[in-house]
Amino acid sequence: MKLADNKATLSFSNGSPSVELPVYQGSVGPDVVDIRKLYAQTGMFTYDPGFLSTASCQSAITYIDGDKGELLYRGYPIEQLATNCDFLETCHLLLYGNLPNAAGKAEFTKRVSNHTMVNEQMQFFLRGFRRDAHPMAIMTGLVGALSAFYHDSTDINNPEHREIAAIRLIAKMPTLVAMAYKYSVGQPFMYPKNNLSYAGNFMHMMFATPCEEYVVNPVIERALDRIFTLHADHEQNASTSTVRLCGSSGTNPFAAIAAGVACLWGPSHGGANEACLNMLEDIQKMGGISKVGEFMEKVKDKNSGVKLMGFGHRVYKNYDPRAKLMQETCKEVLTALGLENDPLFKLAMALEKIALEDDYFVQRKLYPNVDFYSGIVQRAIGIPVSLFTAIFALARTVGWIAQLNEMIGDPEYKIGRPRQLFTGSERRDVLPIAKR
Ligand code: CMC
Repeated sequence: MKLADNKATLSFSNGSPSVELPVYQGSVGPDVVDIRKLYAQTGMFTYDPGFLSTASCQSAITYIDGDKGELLYRGYPIEQLATNCDFLETCHLLLYGNLPNAAGKAEFTKRVSNHTMVNEQMQFFLRGFRRDAHPMAIMTGLVGALSAFYHDSTDINNPEHREIAAIRLIAKMPTLVAMAYKYSVGQPFMYPKNNLSYAGNFMHMMFATPCEEYVVNPVIERALDRIFTLHADHEQNASTSTVRLCGSSGTNPFAAIAAGVACLWGPSHGGANEACLNMLEDIQKMGGISKVGEFMEKVKDKNSGVKLMGFGHRVYKNYDPRAKLMQETCKEVLTALGLENDPLFKLAMALEKIALEDDYFVQRKLYPNVDFYSGIVQRAIGIPVSLFTAIFALARTVGWIAQLNEMIGDPEYKIGRPRQLFTGSERRDVLPIAKR
């Protein structure tokens, strides 16, 4: 961290002495005021629920400029990565900080491929779930359970354990998601095929059966690979911060990632893709495009509790660059599958157009986010709506583990322990039960 030339001075209107606080500069983006000694110096905490103005860590992995609508992984724009690189190259970049050359890519791909199978016992664990369990409930359980199977990669303080846990998680997530799907439809689990690409192998495990040869459609393979790349990391979002906080206690990497999966499930975060598609289907049932105006009135009515899912973002106050790329992929997939006239896609475009022109959205700088179009692509591919967030989890795993490993390697890292502004009862005495 580089000290800035200036310092911040905090003064108090009650005459308490003012304090000087160091300011640090990042390589790009806003400076931060270092408040770590504030409590020791003043006996006061800062108050920032939701982390609206708080940098919880230093990181060199992902940078977002929300006003510009820019997303960089290790300095590379997401548009270039999504167009010129595949997901495993992106994983290498996020984990190790550099894009691999051809030999490095082949070696990394081989390492990941070596770990695509899961312990055979995992299927018995999975069979304990009801067939209609939500895939994210299953994934939370299965990812946590990995720590019970891979004892040689559970010491978070051992760099070799962290490295092998990272590779295992990236390799096994597609296998687990596909198993959760196969279990829900009562089909046999398909073992991974390591001669296929990462996305192609996932499609095979999802859609092949032992009865017939399965041929991977390259357009869908590319689309899935892009979905993975676009979701691979997003700096200190809720699930990543959860992984960091969970891992800061020294727990094992699988447990920390399971915490991330649990957090991602919520509809304000990764669950938005499922919620967005359900919303589009509901509007379609109400009458489709002709009902968009009516639906928008509900969204703008604060008392209705209705939100335009797939719109708005804490950081982006401009078009989410991932949404643009996802819209492009959406068109490509629908065309390749002969679904150009897909009514949900048309509906989504109509909603987007109205929202981008509407004062409510313009004033609040609400734009489509990555989830607005990803559900339409996944549905066209044949992925059931309830599995959407599990696909997001599969893709985000590399970001979670890269951020977790970065934290553990940071000499300034401490167990996360926020403080509070206490508003409850002051000390009081317990009365005997007859007198309460
Ligand atoms: N529809 C209608 N109004 C909205 C929406 C929306 N989707 N998003 C924000 N607003 C309004 C909100 O009501 C508030 O209005 P006001 O100032 O009048 O009270 C204003 O815009 C600011 O919103 P906020 O809730 O204070 O913003 P936030 O940063 O706390 O929330 C968000 C960000 C993503 C949770 C929110 O925009 C949202 O709930 N969007 C829908 C869910 C969604 O698509 N989530 C996916 C996020 S991207 C994928 C990921 O990284 O997980």
